Amino acid sequence: MILTIDDFDVRNKVTFLRVDMNCPIDPITMEIAGTKRIEEATETINALNDAKIVVASHQGRVGNKDYTSMKKHSAVLEKLLGKKIQYVEDVIGTLASDKIKKMKKGEIILLDNLRLCAEENYEFAPNDASNTIMVQRLVKLFDICVLDSFPSAHRSHPSIVGFSNILPSCAGKIVEREIKNLNKIITVAKAPHVVVLGGSKVIDRLEAIKLLINNGRADHVLLTGVIGNVFMRAQGRIKSPLGIKREEEVVAKAHSLIGTYPDVFSTPVDVAINKEGDRVELDVRDLNKYDEINDLGPKTIEYYNKIISSAGTVFMSGPAGFFERDNFSVGTKSILNSLSRSMATSIVSGGHLNYALKKYKLVNKINHISTAGGALILYLTGKKLPMIESLENAAIRYKKQV
Ligand code: 3PG
Repeated sequence: MILTIDDFDVRNKVTFLRVDMNCPIDPITMEIAGTKRIEEATETINALNDAKIVVASHQGRVGNKDYTSMKKHSAVLEKLLGKKIQYVEDVIGTLASDKIKKMKKGEIILLDNLRLCAEENYEFAPNDASNTIMVQRLVKLFDICVLDSFPSAHRSHPSIVGFSNILPSCAGKIVEREIKNLNKIITVAKAPHVVVLGGSKVIDRLEAIKLLINNGRADHVLLTGVIGNVFMRAQGRIKSPLGIKREEEVVAKAHSLIGTYPDVFSTPVDVAINKEGDRVELDVRDLNKYDEINDLGPKTIEYYNKIISSAGTVFMSGPAGFFERDNFSVGTKSILNSLSRSMATSIVSGGHLNYALKKYKLVNKINHISTAGGALILYLTGKKLPMIESLENAAIRYKKQV
């Protein structure tokens, strides 16, 4: 059992609100390429109307291109809320604490990218998270903690398990809705379970795939994107290195998964490569060393769509290619279309696919759409996520007090 905003009188309370506004960033323009997660944050901010709200989020990973400040998010949030936001270029310094101390009822502060603080890039046991400099410096300024970053519910970072281990804490609107909808879907989901897996967070996904298969939630895994390339390398069908982080380790893991579950995985037979911006389709056997795979090829798309058409449940996470560019959007668009037509219960997950669904006007044709990626996959495996566990413990503590 977890508490919700309705369990608290939030008026005038200094509220730490952890949201997940980690958005896709266009690697060329560096603009926010999909604002769905910021839109979601507005729902809980509005529900906390008379509180003093300190909004906090991460964006990207340190060292990656999408690791940015929250300045652009602040402008989008302000526009969506139609309310003034104070964007503070600080997380745990005196600039942030001075501003928080001076807040008035109804005011909203957005802190800078939480991952500017080194500790937020590491996972901790709850008590250790509460003892981090981040939590120790900030926690005394807050009355309540509201956790609403469902897409990062699988991370035991200080902002996710540290504050809620000390403060009266509850779930925000998104976490509340995700849990309710997902629990409902999990009970009615029918076999065969098809998982369409793409995107670039390969290390995270490999462990999750294994759990999904073992829990009977993945009878067929259709691979796309960078993770598809990793499996093709593991099969020896792509000969040259892909140039991704910890490549040999992930390829070895993929190899072992294929060996353990030989009938579960499908990889592309043909792809579209980027030749100076143009789409060139070719058989995987004809790939050359420096070819940049940007999409699925037509034969693969047809095969994947056939499997989807006879599925009982389809879960899609991560785009099938570089769909932000029109000539490489064919795979993602076609698979989403086929999902929207199928009789299967459909779940689409992740920031990029949310953006794609909106772009292709398919939002109303999917059973459950979540902006979460890795967290959602782990939730479907039945694993207890650190954020949910922390909220459950907070509810037990609260019940003992009242
Ligand atoms: C996500 O997009 O999956 C969440 O924001 C978590 O981000 P992370 O994988 O960088 O921790």
